[in-house]
Amino acid sequence: MKTLSITMLLMFVFAVAWAEGFDVHSLRGDVALDAPSVQTSAKEWQEGEGKIMRNYAQQPPLVPHSVEDFAITREDNSCLACHNWNSDMEGATKVGISHFVNRDGDALARISPNRYFCTQCHVPQKNAKPLVKNTFKSLADE
Ligand code: HEC
Ligand code: HEC
Repeated sequence: MKTLSITMLLMFVFAVAWAEGFDVHSLRGDVALDAPSVQTSAKEWQEGEGKIMRNYAQQPPLVPHSVEDFAITREDNSCLACHNWNSDMEGATKVGISHFVNRDGDALARISPNRYFCTQCHVPQKNAKPLVKNTFKSLADE
């Protein structure tokens, strides 16, 4: 029993020493646990440059404006004020006919429920550096 506890203690000491050998960084950066974390810089919306070219045919177009003030709730979808087929908002691309087809392929008079939450597929852009390198090459790059 005694030998077992001494072995376990030694294993623990070795494990701690081993872990300290690595350069471990937490997501908070090199800030002590009890210190306030460093304030991150606010990122700017990528806005005002018009439509963003698609990278492949099936891509949901990226949103070239801020979406901060546009709520999508069960009762109301403010994106549709400008993007619905009958909106008179100049310059806002109208949602395509594909958004009026349900999952069974039936044509609907209103936006299909599976297209209601626009930002599930259409994402706005900010000037943030990618966290992970992406090597995807689109047809547009060729
Ligand atoms: C006040 C009107 C308005 C509202 C509300 C609005 N948009 Fe837009 N949207 C525009 C305009 C105008 C454009 C055309 C590009 C530009 O001028 O920025 C656009 C462009 C887009 C595009 C690019 C279309 C393309 O052909 O490339 C997408 C996607 C989009 N908006 C999605 C959304 C989503 C999602 C919401 C809700 C969260 C939303 N928009 C709310 C006016 C609006
Ligand atoms: C399930 C994913 C999905 C959802 C949800 C969705 N879209 Fe799309 N959207 C797409 C895809 C994919 C395309 C490109 C192919 C197409 O037109 O169907 C597209 C195309 C568009 C276009 C460009 C149409 C054109 O003719 O160039 C607009 C504008 C748009 N969507 C707006 C919206 C709005 C507004 C909503 C919410 C009411 C919405 N979408 C919800 C996937 C989605």
